[in-house]
Parts: sequence; structure tokens; C-alpha cells
Amino acid sequence: MLTQIIAHRGSKGTRPENTLLAFQAALDDGADGLETDVHLSKDGHLIIMHDETVDRTTDGSGRIVDLTLAELKRLDAGSAFDPLYAGAQVPTLDEVVQLLIKRNFTGIFNLELKTNKIHYDGIEALVADYFNHHAVPFKLVYSSFYGKSIERLHALQPDVEFDSLFQTKVQNAKRLHAEHVILGYHPDIRWVRLHWLLLPKVQLRPWTVNKERDMRFCYKHRFAGIITDYPGLAHRVRVKV
Ligand code: G3P
Ligand code: CA
Repeated sequence: MLTQIIAHRGSKGTRPENTLLAFQAALDDGADGLETDVHLSKDGHLIIMHDETVDRTTDGSGRIVDLTLAELKRLDAGSAFDPLYAGAQVPTLDEVVQLLIKRNFTGIFNLELKTNKIHYDGIEALVADYFNHHAVPFKLVYSSFYGKSIERLHALQPDVEFDSLFQTKVQNAKRLHAEHVILGYHPDIRWVRLHWLLLPKVQLRPWTVNKERDMRFCYKHRFAGIITDYPGLAHRVRVKV
């Protein structure tokens, strides 16, 4: 089976990360999957962004948890990447899902709950409730650096695939895999050889695989996937392997 190309925060290398523009570009580049991050706004909306604060990627400041959806929507999430993309908005989870439905996307949608640095009361139940009420054409894969989020979501949606992230201790990943809680593990590409050795039965989807030689390594060894900022490049390299 081909190693899947999963676009990290959309096509992060070529568009403002975690915006609809980035997800559209990833799909245009032939990504097999999309990876993204979810937080909770002050008024309880599921918000797509990587950081806990809006400072780095928008023209605003402050924590997502202290801003309402209306306040988040007024931010410019494009100019910090390139003024060419001025006016790009911070999307909600629903806006991203609606885009994928419109594009009839049937690949992997890897949603990372960003619950490791900040406590979002009830985010797992909100996410589970959202996907329980929306039929989607894609394959949902949850991940989180925070083990409790994975365990909470697994209790709510036992049929969805879960993957562990790098900070999960190897023995915990082994246990979760043996208990069928997780199928995969997402190691940092710099440590992938170690995790390949320690977790031989677990599907690996390393991140962030941006160098051609790392892509070739993952393709050659038939890893389940790579998570990359450059899905277009990853596609061109895969064709040649
Ligand atoms: O899923 C891998 C990757 O997304 C985790 O790192 O910091 O980019 O969310 P980060
Ligand atoms: Ca992520």
C-alpha cells in the first residue's frame, strides 16, 4: 500500500496554515489526508488553529478561549503568512468539514485536540457530538498529545480510529494499541527510527516530513503515512520512488 500523504495544517508550506485556503491547496495538491488542530472559543465554538493564542498567525492577540467566534472572525489569518492572502479567516471545524464534503473528500481527516497545554472543559464531548450528528465522506482519525483526551473520546466514539502522538510514552502507546484504543502513532521524524524499532506493530505517520530524503525513507519503508507541510512536493517525490 502507498504511504499516505497527509497535509500538515493544510498545505502549511504554501498557504496560511489552518485556513480554508490551506486545506483547498492541499486537496488541489493531491493530499490523501489532512491534519489539523482544534480548540474551543469563549462561546463554545470549535475553532481550527494550531496555537492556543491568535498572536502568531493573525493580526490579533490573546487566547482563543478568551475570544468569541465573532471576535475570531474579525481577525486576518492570512497576512502574517503573506499579504497576498490578506482577509483569510480563522475557520471553525464545521467550515472545514463543509469544504471537505463539498470536495467529496474521502481521505483521512486527522483532527488533533489541542488539549495538552490548556484545559477546554467538555471539548471531547462537543467534538464527538459534532461527528455523531454529521455524516462525513472521509475517514476520521483523532489524535492528541494529551492521553486523557484520547481516552475520553474513545469512550464516546469507540468506532473511530485514534492515533497517539510523539509525547505518549512508548509503553503507553503499546498498551493503548494492545487494547485497540489506538491504531497508529505519529512520531517526530527525527526519532522515527527509534519508534519504528520500539513499535513494530503500530502504523507510523511521522511528522513533519518536509525534506525529500525523509520522504523517500518513509516511502521506501512503506510507513502508513507522512505528515508534511508540502503535500505537492511529497506527491512528486512519491511518483518517482
Ligand atoms: O500530528 C502531528 C503534528 O501535528 C503535531 O505537532 O505541533 O504541528 O500540532 P503540531
Ligand atoms: Ca497538529
